[in-house]
This record gives sequence, structure tokens and C-alpha cells, in this order.
Amino acid sequence: MNDQANASKHVLISGGSRGLGQVLVQGMLDAGFTVTTFARKSSEFTDQLKDHPRFAFHIADMADIPSLQQVVKAGVKQFGNYFGLINCAGVAPDGVLPMMPEQKIDQVIDINLTGALKLTRLVLRTMLTSRSEGSIINISSIIGIRGYNGLAAYSASKGGMDAMSRALARELGERGIRVNSVAPGYLRTEMTHTLSEKHLDQIARRTPMGRLGTPEDVLGSVLFFLSDASRFVTGQTLVVDGGITT
Ligand SMILES: NC(=O)c1ccc[n+]([C@@H]2O[C@H](COP(=O)([O-])OP(=O)(O)OC[C@H]3O[C@@H](n4cnc5c(N)ncnc54)[C@H](OP(=O)(O)O)[C@@H]3O)[C@@H](O)[C@H]2O)c1
Repeated sequence: MNDQANASKHVLISGGSRGLGQVLVQGMLDAGFTVTTFARKSSEFTDQLKDHPRFAFHIADMADIPSLQQVVKAGVKQFGNYFGLINCAGVAPDGVLPMMPEQKIDQVIDINLTGALKLTRLVLRTMLTSRSEGSIINISSIIGIRGYNGLAAYSASKGGMDAMSRALARELGERGIRVNSVAPGYLRTEMTHTLSEKHLDQIARRTPMGRLGTPEDVLGSVLFFLSDASRFVTGQTLVVDGGITT
């Protein structure tokens, strides 16, 4: 990775305050990228980085489009046009569908899918004006490919993100903007805190590589899609799951 060349590459990542997003932000800064991120609240991690010259954090909500417009605009003003976008923010409320309140269904689709589509739309408008190459990465999930008990709405949102990657790849290929998904397996983050240790052990035993994933396991795939090593790869979903879906 050429750190010098990456410094001029500005990447916007949603949900970079904790969990997987935090590790991706740190990994991109380490690789020399300039990073703008946002979440509904700041964290110890984003507070620690507040004086970093290649980093900016904003408060915004994936379900509140005016707040996304503000972040996209502020990012361009501070660091210039975007080279990359990583749709990472997400929620995963569980519950069997017949019992799930409609409000919860709306929330997961609004944040994970509609929010990702609308944020991508806003960022693409700036990318297309600058007529430069770029890379969009949707963080989906193996749940969107395989499904999971009690996660129908989440699964639909993640399957939708993969479909969006394929369609946008066709739309943007000629412009030199690549769109791919990274679909992680089960990671130890706040999102999986609700799963019992017994359940997590069971998942680890079913995984050919014998353990749960970590956010650090996902970083390499994201850096790959941001790099020239993937310059002819678009519309793909790269599964990062230790082999559990094989
Ligand atoms: N953990 C896993 O096992 C796993 C597996 C496959 C895929 N994924 C995907 O990976 C991504 C990151 O998950 P994670 O495990 O890191 O989750 P996490 O630890 O719960 O972190 C989620 C991040 O998204 C932000 N976020 C949530 N709702 C938001 C909203 N409405 N607007 C703006 N930001 C919002 C959170 O900040 P605030 O809450 O402060 O807004 C936080 O920064 C998600 O898309 C998830 O679906 C996770």
C-alpha cells in the first residue's frame, strides 16, 4: 500500500465510531487515507482522534437525510471530493417477523438499506462531478445470503445492499467507479452481544477456521477494494466468514 498516494484519497465511512467501523477507520488512517465518518453519537475512539489532520467525525443519522447531506457537504469542504464510500453503519434488531413491531421493520430498512442508498446517491453526485475514479463498498452480511432465524428484516436489508452493489456496478463501470460488497460472518462486536456464549461457541465450532471473526479480519478485504489491486473487480460480494457458508 502506497501511503503517500492514499493521502489524497478521501473516504467517507458511515458508522465509524465503534465496532467494525472503528477498526476500518483506524486501518484506513494507518494506510494513509483521509477519513470522514459519522454516527449518532461520538465515542472514546472518535474523541481521541479529534486532532488528527486526516480525520473528521460528525454527528448524523442514516435515517435523517438532511443530516447526511450536511456530512457529505462538510467532508468535501474540509478534505475535497470523495474517492471512496463505505456503507458500514447498521442495526440488527431481532425478533420473529409476525411479532416484530412495524416500527422496528421500518427502522432496520431505513438505516441499513434506504440510508445506504440515499447516502450513496449524495456521494455519487460529488464523485461524478469530479470525474475521478472511485470505490464504493457496502458492508453487507452472510445473513443476507444465507438467512437466519429471527433476522428477516435485517437479512432483507443486507441482501438489498448486495443487489445494490451489482446494479450500481453496471451503472458506474464506465465512469471508473467500482461498487462491491464485503459480507462478514459473525464478528465479536456490540451487535452480537445479544447472542449467548453457548450460541457463539456453536458458531465457532461450525466455522471451518474454528473461531468467530474479528473486525480486523474484515479490514484487509476493505483495503483491497480501496486499492488498485482490485481495479478490475466490480459488482462482487466478498464473503469474509472463516468458511462457515461453504
Ligand atoms: N457484528 C457482526 O457480526 C456483523 C456481521 C456481518 C455484518 N455486520 C455489519 O457490519 C456493520 C457494522 O456492524 P458492527 O458489528 O460494527 O455494529 P456496532 O458495533 O453496533 O456498530 C454500529 C455502528 O453504526 C453506527 N450506527 C448505527 N445506526 C446508525 C444510524 N442510524 N446512523 C448513523 N450511524 C449509525 C453506530 O453508531 P451509533 O449507534 O452511535 O449511531 C456504530 O458506529 C453493520 O452494517 C453490520 O450489519 C456485522
